[in-house]
Amino acid sequence: MRPTVYITRRIPDEIIAKIEEECDIRMWDETDIPVPRNVLEKEISSVEGLYCLLTETIDREILAKASRLKVISNMAVGYNNIDIKAAKEKGITVTNTPGVLTETTADLTFALLMATARRLIESADCLRSGNWKTWSPMQLTGQDIYGATLGIIGMGRIGASLAKRAKGFDMNILYYNRSQKPELEIELNMKYTDLDTLLRESDFVCIMTPYTPETTNLIGNREFSLMKKSSILINTARGGIVNENDLFQALRDGEIWAAGLDVFEQEPVCLDNPLLSLANVVTLPHIGSASIKTRMKMAELAADNLLLAIKNQTPKHVVV
Ligand code: DGY
Repeated sequence: MRPTVYITRRIPDEIIAKIEEECDIRMWDETDIPVPRNVLEKEISSVEGLYCLLTETIDREILAKASRLKVISNMAVGYNNIDIKAAKEKGITVTNTPGVLTETTADLTFALLMATARRLIESADCLRSGNWKTWSPMQLTGQDIYGATLGIIGMGRIGASLAKRAKGFDMNILYYNRSQKPELEIELNMKYTDLDTLLRESDFVCIMTPYTPETTNLIGNREFSLMKKSSILINTARGGIVNENDLFQALRDGEIWAAGLDVFEQEPVCLDNPLLSLANVVTLPHIGSASIKTRMKMAELAADNLLLAIKNQTPKHVVV
């Protein structure tokens, strides 16, 4: 009998066709509306495979209903939306999509860094709203990128790719990570520091670490007080790594100069989130990996992982 797979969002037709060659498919046929919890609860109870996105919370409670489930294939590198421990206890394989999104996410991170430092969004708004009256010496002045110090928190694949871009701008690169990476240090001319030194010395602090219980609220009041008043925080990892209330205060009170945020504690971010009221914050709707080629690669890799696990073969990227 063919296994059944539930797909939690409309994915590209060619990926659906690929899965359909080997499995029966049910799908939440919407592109911009996440699957309701009650629908997911019902669907998960009768399928062997789940193909899901980072928008689905796959917790212990929902997994209790998954009596036949063999694999959860997450179309994302981050898997903080899945209770890994509960999945492991039930013998369910969890897979993710690292590698294919590395360069695209590093591109976006550097773009956000530049946009925030040089006030690109604010400047474009100034022009369109008719507020560009004349050229003036200190109008819309920002922070230099070339030659500045970049502190990268989390030296995984994306952190290293960000460092490669920074090298081209002659930046002085510091990093903090669970483990030191001596070979990368030589290749990219980076220096390993403890977190507090990185925060004190960096002009730009980029969060590139996974979201885990250990990294939840990693950056809050204490950390902002260590940072330079001219510094810029960039977060393209996960919102919960930075305490948003503390970030708001730090930006409002001038403890740091600006922030570029692609991710939020709650997504989509509420329009009354105080961070959105600040001129020194550049915000994006979680688009780190959003290039056409990369999203297609992620969708395909998630399908490959799913199909291998369903056939009891080892998927390309196993979390547990
Ligand atoms: C991920 O994969 O975890 C990103 O946040 C979305 O591409």
